Amino acid sequence: MDILNPGVSRYLDDLVPARPAELQEMERIGESTNFPIIGPASGHLCYLVARMIGAKRVFELGSGYGYSTAWFARAVRENGGGEVHHVVWDADLSNRARTHLERLGYTDLVRYHVAEAVETLRGTDGPFDLIFNDILKRDYPASIDVILPKLRRGGALIIDNMLWSGRILDASDQTPDTEGVRAVTRRIMESGEFIASIVPVRDGVLVAYRL
Ligand SMILES: C[S@@+](CC[C@H](N)C(=O)[O-])C[C@H]1O[C@@H](n2cnc3c(N)ncnc32)[C@H](O)[C@@H]1O
Repeated sequence: MDILNPGVSRYLDDLVPARPAELQEMERIGESTNFPIIGPASGHLCYLVARMIGAKRVFELGSGYGYSTAWFARAVRENGGGEVHHVVWDADLSNRARTHLERLGYTDLVRYHVAEAVETLRGTDGPFDLIFNDILKRDYPASIDVILPKLRRGGALIIDNMLWSGRILDASDQTPDTEGVRAVTRRIMESGEFIASIVPVRDGVLVAYRL
C-alpha cells in the first residue's frame, strides 16, 4: 500500500534540486530492480539534517549499494570533510557501492564494512554526529541500546520505513518486522532520550534529536 498519494510523492521527488547523473542512475537502478533505496525526497531530507547539524561523522546501518550513503557523503563533504561508514552484510552490494561512490568522488570519505551492522557499530569508536538505521525492521528495537552510547548529544538519529507501508495501522499484523517498527517507535517517542518526529515522506522517516 502506498501511504502517500502517488501524485504527492512524485511532486516531492520532483522538488528535489538537480543532482549528479550518477545519483539519478542509482535511482533508476532502484526502480528497475525493485531495490528499496530511500529515494530522492527522503535522501534530500537526510542530506538536509546532516547539513543542519554540521555532521562530520556519520554511521549507516544497512547501506545497500550506496544511495543513502551518497547523500550523507555530500553533506559531510560540504560540512568540511569527515567520514561516512557504509555497512552491509552482502559483499556484492558493498562492491557496487564502491563503484558508484567512486564515480561521485566520495572514495576518501567512505569507510566500507561487509558485516552485520549493529555489531559493527558496537565495535567502532564513537561518537557519531548522525546515525542512520535501515536494517531489518525486526532488529530495530535491539539496535537502539547500541546506537545511544555512540551518538553524541545534539546529534541526530534517522530511521527509515517507520510507517512500514501502512502495516503499523493494521492491528492484526503482528509479524516480527511490523512489531519491530512499533517497538522502536514507542522506545524513541516515550523514553525521553530524544525529541523526534516521523516525517511522512515515502515510507516514513523518523528524525530524532539526541538529548
Ligand atoms: C533497505 S536496504 C538499504 C537501502 C539504503 N539505505 C539506501 O537507501 O540506499 C537494507 C540493506 O541492508 C541489509 N541489511 C539488513 N539488515 C542488516 C544488518 N543487520 N546488517 C547488515 N546489513 C543488513 C539488507 O540486506 C539490504 O541490503
